[in-house]
Amino acid sequence: MNESKLAYLAAKRTVDDRALNRHTFDRFANELATREEPVRIVELGAGVGTMIGRLVTRDALPDRVSYRAVDRDPACIDYARERVPEWVAAAGYEIEAKHRDRPGTTTFVARDDDRRLEITLETADGFAIDDRADAVLGAAFFDLVDLETAIPAVEDLLAPDGVLYAPITFDGGTSFAPRDPLDERLERWYHRHMDEIRDGGSSRAGQALLTTLPARGWDVLAAGGSDWVVRPAGGADEGDGDGMGYPARERVVVSHLLETIENATAAFVPDRLDADERTRWLERRRCELAADELVAVAHNLDVLARFAGDTRRLRTMGRT
Ligand SMILES: C[S@@+](CC[C@H](N)C(=O)[O-])C[C@H]1O[C@@H](n2cnc3c(N)ncnc32)[C@H](O)[C@@H]1O
Repeated sequence: MNESKLAYLAAKRTVDDRALNRHTFDRFANELATREEPVRIVELGAGVGTMIGRLVTRDALPDRVSYRAVDRDPACIDYARERVPEWVAAAGYEIEAKHRDRPGTTTFVARDDDRRLEITLETADGFAIDDRADAVLGAAFFDLVDLETAIPAVEDLLAPDGVLYAPITFDGGTSFAPRDPLDERLERWYHRHMDEIRDGGSSRAGQALLTTLPARGWDVLAAGGSDWVVRPAGGADEGDGDGMGYPARERVVVSHLLETIENATAAFVPDRLDADERTRWLERRRCELAADELVAVAHNLDVLARFAGDTRRLRTMGRT
């Protein structure tokens, strides 16, 4: 399971690269640029560290940054420990020092003439850590957790006027082309699983952020769509090399999505007829994927918001 999760998280990088809402991303980079350096960034649910690779590749970080990337899955952090230094070096940094602080935590320093980037990769529950960050980031993360507890925890992690950047937050749309008569029912079952059975999260998390944050006194600075569109684009798959398939490793992303739908919908199939239909649907989709014919679309939102309060101070004063 871990192997397939790691392959999926690595493969979805190019899908996310295309999907990320450019306006919200640029506004996030501008917000970072206004903070006093070194700028402290805490990433929750960092997965295999692809956001760090993306931020350095796009030159979106200030000159002096201290970046703490946290995931509760040790396999993700192990993978990130191998790959993040390569990605940072490819963006022009030199890796100056690398040390294991304690089991599950590695820090390295990357530099060039003008810039210093300290990255700590850490296995931990993102809601059990302490920090005082200029920015908290969680990509494809806030749809997995309960916002009622997650947002106060983020407030605790932020310095005054710090920002939350929540890109690729799922927002209630999963579809495939060509269409199938079962699509809509299957989508409803899949999303009900997120809402009613899966531990934490919701199928409408993107929009929920847009109401929950202002209700707690946050200013939403930018928001926009970041839909995934994965399609056979006539590019060569890595590995296939036949010139016909999905870009890079994106076939893995669709395969993982079908597996997730298969596992989730098993709980909702009401009778034998529906079970047979579901099996037919899955077989059809897997055949289409193998034949480079399947297009998958998922609707996400990117949200950037600023927390104007200082929770610790307010707590001390007994006001929250
Ligand atoms: C869908 S993945 C996204 C990973 C990465 N942000 C990306 O976009 O590729 C969500 C990640 O959140 C991690 N996660 C879930 N709950 C967590 C928590 N409470 N603390 C830390 N990590 C958590 C999971 O282990 C998983 O790696």
